[in-house]
Amino acid sequence: MELGLEGKIALITGGSRGIGRAIAQRLADEGCALMLVARTERDLEQAAADIGEDTGRRVEIAVADLATREGTDAASAAARGAFGRLDILVNNAGAGRIGDFFSLTDEDWRYAFANKFFAMMRMSRALWPLLTDACGSVVNIAGTRGITPAPHIFISSAVNAAVINFSKALANQGLIDDVNVNVVLPGVVATELHDRYVNEQAALEGITVDEVRAKKLAADGVRRFATVDDVADAVAFLVSPAARHVQGTMTVIDGGGTRTL
Ligand SMILES: NC(=O)c1ccc[n+]([C@@H]2O[C@H](COP(=O)([O-])OP(=O)(O)OC[C@H]3O[C@@H](n4cnc5c(N)ncnc54)[C@H](OP(=O)(O)O)[C@@H]3O)[C@@H](O)[C@H]2O)c1
Repeated sequence: MELGLEGKIALITGGSRGIGRAIAQRLADEGCALMLVARTERDLEQAAADIGEDTGRRVEIAVADLATREGTDAASAAARGAFGRLDILVNNAGAGRIGDFFSLTDEDWRYAFANKFFAMMRMSRALWPLLTDACGSVVNIAGTRGITPAPHIFISSAVNAAVINFSKALANQGLIDDVNVNVVLPGVVATELHDRYVNEQAALEGITVDEVRAKKLAADGVRRFATVDDVADAVAFLVSPAARHVQGTMTVIDGGGTRTL
């Protein structure tokens, strides 16, 4: 299916690794020029070199800590300076600690909201004028825990619930300003972040990493965990002209593990 993304400009937060990197590759494959944002310069440079070489597309990077106001200001200014235009914003970066409720500190909660919720709210606000000019698209990456909280996953569940609610509200603003906004909820996706969660969960439960994975697959009753490409394919569709009438929706990518309405 021709997605009609040739020549578009896309900014992907957390575009250096994991889900964000796969989204970056997919959008470049479809003809987009990219701005990738993350904290680690070496990873960004590697991603930009690999994707640029593979697709021939222009790939710019911005090193910024999006958990801070300075970081979101710098990243949005870098996008404006590099391209002067923006068609697609994918707010993907962020993560929260898992753990027993009583072991999580105020700082753990504060940091996770800063790192994901406030980062995407500020990036959306700063780049909204460019997105409005381009009749552009925003996709926010939340997670299924935002609608189905799980033991030991207090923080990500709450942050992702806030992200989903914010995305719906931003979609209302998008109806006024002609910007598409949708939110994607991955279930378990095999990335470094997931490896970290699995290791922490194994330590918490006193079982092996393989046992954690097997338990999770059995509990969800799914065939396999998602790949980063499962998520990237959905995002590429949602930011394309083909999805222009898809507005304010939640796309769950978890192989059928979430059985709520
Ligand atoms: N993996 C899963 O199972 C899963 C499930 C549901 C939802 N999600 C969501 O999907 C998104 C991506 O997850 P992932 O698994 O791909 O994570 P990942 O492999 O850990 O990659 C995270 C990316 O975000 C960047 N990043 C993190 N904090 C940042 C900050 N403060 N400022 C700028 N960049 C930052 C990282 O680069 P630096 O570290 O260099 O900054 C990296 O590029 C997250 O929002 C996560 O909550 C993941």
